[in-house]
Formats: sequence, structure tokens, C-alpha cells
Amino acid sequence: MVARVKRGQRVLLLGAKAQYLVPAIGKFSSKYGCADFSKIIGKPFGKELKVGKERFIVVEPNIIDFLFRSARGGGPQVTLPKDAAAVLAITGCNKNSKVVEAGTGSAWLAVFLANHVDKVYTYERRKESIKIAKKNIINSGLKNIILKQRDISNGIAEKNVDLVVLDMEEPEKVVKKTVHALKPGGWLVVLSVHPEQAALAAEASRKAGFGYVRTTENLQRDWSSYIKGRMSRSRPRTDFVHSCFLTVARKI
Ligand SMILES: C[S@@+](CC[C@H](N)C(=O)[O-])C[C@H]1O[C@@H](n2cnc3c(N)ncnc32)[C@H](O)[C@@H]1O
Repeated sequence: MVARVKRGQRVLLLGAKAQYLVPAIGKFSSKYGCADFSKIIGKPFGKELKVGKERFIVVEPNIIDFLFRSARGGGPQVTLPKDAAAVLAITGCNKNSKVVEAGTGSAWLAVFLANHVDKVYTYERRKESIKIAKKNIINSGLKNIILKQRDISNGIAEKNVDLVVLDMEEPEKVVKKTVHALKPGGWLVVLSVHPEQAALAAEASRKAGFGYVRTTENLQRDWSSYIKGRMSRSRPRTDFVHSCFLTVARKI
């Protein structure tokens, strides 16, 4: 069935020069001019909308369109999709998996994971983060995230989960508690900015009896790729982007 634009639903206007994620209601105005959403309500996605002289296509947004425009709260660092994707690539979690995560922060990681797994239980102790996380979770439209205003060091209520991800200060103090939450063969992933923190997480995992403990860094570098004549003129466009180390362990 072809999806159609509903009044008030958030749509992505995708143009050659700009993108906008906006509710399809009333009039839209930008530096390119104005457009009337009534022209596209009820029409299939993919139609063109002229904003002044600029051409945009109206697209149904997905979780990545949403995430890169959602609130970060100016507080704690968020987990970027490249690292969230690495968590799934390493652990093989899928639509049947149950995941526990701490701390929620702005819920970027929780939202990314929930788009792929069965359920995400996410723990956050700071009230200010809970507010931002709630907003981002509601805006994502996902219904499989259980947001818990709790300090995870007081214990994990869930049992038999496939994965616990710790993205918080001093995760090494919580590692032991994750053992009882995980199913046999379940995965622990600890995200750390510095190698010293990763080493502490690895050590705590070994002490708690986890096996297959390793730390990996997920570097990313963008390139400008093009061919001139028959010669490649491709060049790196950015330096390597380091965001975190992933310390991975398995319950044995
Ligand atoms: C780096 S942020 C997490 C960002 C999150 N992964 C995201 O993608 O938006 C760390 C968060 O962990 C929370 N936190 C730290 N210790 C915690 C604990 N013991 N229990 C629950 N939350 C905790 C902090 O309040 C902070 O919001």
C-alpha cells in the first residue's frame, strides 16, 4: 500500500540545497519562500512541493532523519548511530532481543536500538535528562522503550536479557550487576571515551566472570570521491572521527 501524507504528520522536505523535518500543516516558510501543505495532504509520499523557486520532494522520515534533528540537551554526549550500529553488528541483536541500557542521556542510543530490537529498558538517574529523553522518545514514535528514572547501580530488575549496554560514568562499578540480568551467552557492551576507562571496564568484566572480553574502536572517515577523466581524485574529507571505545564481553 502506498503511504500518503496525513495532516499534521511530520514529513521530510528533501531539496538539493536544504532539508526540513516539519509537521505537514498550514503554511511552510523558509528562506526560499512559502508553500501551502494543503497541496500535498492525502497525496502519496514522493510528490514535489515548490517552496518559492526551490523544488523539494516530500519524504516519509525515518529514525536517522529524526535522530539528527532531535534534542541533545547541551548535556551529556550522545551515542552516534555509527557506534549504535556497531553494537548491533557485534552482538547480532535483532527484532526478538531484549536490551537494558544505562544511562539514557538524550535517548539517542535507546531510540536507535529500539528501532531494531523487541524492547529497550533504559535507566537514567538525572531528572533533566529524563525530560529530554521523554521528548525524544515520544517524537520518535517508538512504543517499545521503557524509560526508568532509576540509578542502575541500585540493581537491574530485568532478567534473561540479550544485551546490556552501559554508556555512563564509572560503568566498571555496575558490571557485576549486569551478570544476573543477562541470559547465558548474553552480551555486555560498555562505551567509553578514553582508553583508560575502557581498560577499567575490561578488567571489571573479567573479574565478574565474563568471557571473550575485548575492546574495539570504531573509527570513521569521510571521503570526497570522484573521477576526473580516468583518474581518481578521491581524498579524505575529514580526519578519523573517534567517538568511543566499545568494550565487549559475553556471559559464559
Ligand atoms: C553519556 S550519557 C548517555 C548518552 C546516551 N547513550 C545517548 O545516546 O543519548 C550518560 C548518562 O548516564 C547517566 N548516568 C550516569 N550514571 C548513571 C547511573 N548510575 N544510573 C543511571 N543513569 C546514569 C547520566 O546522568 C547521563 O545522562
